[in-house]
Amino acid sequence: MADKVKDEMSDKRILLIIGGGIAAYKSLLLIRVLAKRGIQTRAILTRAGTEFVTPLSVGALSGDKVYTDLFSLSDEAEMGHIELSRSADLVVVVPATADLMAKAANGLANDLASTTLLATDKRVLYAPAMNVRMWENAATVRNVETLRADGALFVGPEEGDMACGEFGYGRMAEPETIADAIESALAGVTDLDAMKPKSLAGKHVLITAGPTREPIDPVRYLSNHSSGKQGYALALACADLGAKVSLVSGPVDLTPPHGVEIINVETAQDMLKACESALPCDVFISVAAVADWRPRNTGIQKIKKDGKAVPPLELEETPDILKTLSSHKNRPTLVIGFAAETNDIIPHAQAKLAKKGCDWIVANDVSGDVMGGDENTMILVQTDNVDPWPKLSKREAAERLAAKIAAHFSKL
Ligand code: C5P
Repeated sequence: MADKVKDEMSDKRILLIIGGGIAAYKSLLLIRVLAKRGIQTRAILTRAGTEFVTPLSVGALSGDKVYTDLFSLSDEAEMGHIELSRSADLVVVVPATADLMAKAANGLANDLASTTLLATDKRVLYAPAMNVRMWENAATVRNVETLRADGALFVGPEEGDMACGEFGYGRMAEPETIADAIESALAGVTDLDAMKPKSLAGKHVLITAGPTREPIDPVRYLSNHSSGKQGYALALACADLGAKVSLVSGPVDLTPPHGVEIINVETAQDMLKACESALPCDVFISVAAVADWRPRNTGIQKIKKDGKAVPPLELEETPDILKTLSSHKNRPTLVIGFAAETNDIIPHAQAKLAKKGCDWIVANDVSGDVMGGDENTMILVQTDNVDPWPKLSKREAAERLAAKIAAHFSKL
């Protein structure tokens, strides 16, 4: 089988642009992995790249000349930069630094690497590597979106410990993973995401998100500051793993993820109804910050301010959606609740697990600016285990929880 793949790839050549980042050393390993798979590499080293790996080591592994300088007369005489940019079947940027991607996204051409990226008529595959804050910076997000829209492919970055000591997204994909992506791209695959394992394929996941609004009268309501970001991120993460996702959302200012069924609701009562209508499902994740109370009597007309008495506001409890679905006749196989806590987080979450009758509780410390913020510090509480997670972006936290759910089903 390996020989067959090698045969199919043996006439393939990539142009590898090695950017200046600590992950540049992995480009050397990549050249070896590719050679074993029968894929030849011709390399360009950026000036910053030469600070991390030398032309000599790259050339020794690729068995070819290494190009570094746009203004080299001898290089241009042998092979001009236009020809270089077209001499391969695929251009691969490893590590793709924030700087290289910014240049490519904006059409800058002030060195050999960026000129090649602008001149090439071949597909470009980027393997980004950078600090998590740089990866999540709005400018990088914009540049990546632009490159994707222009037809570029991406492999990684992955979540993990980074050379700078931080943890998060930004760690470059491993050479074997990049080599897999290169093979797919060389075989004509234009959506590498579609190649990811769909570990939740065939599963129906129901998620609630956002706040609820409990009307006092036609113009006033009780609500809370929930932004819906964590629930929406979870919907995306589960959909990315191939799940069918129904997202029951309170009023938020977010665009529903592509491919997710969205059911918009206002009150806790409506949210419960929408959830029950969405059954049966395999997983229920109750992320919504459901209002705990609602006015017992809702005015049909706007309550008038008469300048004398303040109207009494009698409250009653809203239906507990999580509890209801946990003991439902169509109970989902896995029921996950969220618990926003400010103190004694683990004991409170364990008590909630029992009280609500769900399988897992994701406890989050809301003593900071979690509501509306982009990060979350979560603890996954199960009956027999307590797993504290580091501070993660809501997207990373969602992907981690989605992966845990997939792992749970794979063991059943
Ligand atoms: O009881 P508490 O509000 O702290 O529980 C939080 C969990 O219960 C969350 O998962 C939330 O979505 C869910 N919940 C619910 N219905 C309510 C109140 C909370 O589903 N009325």
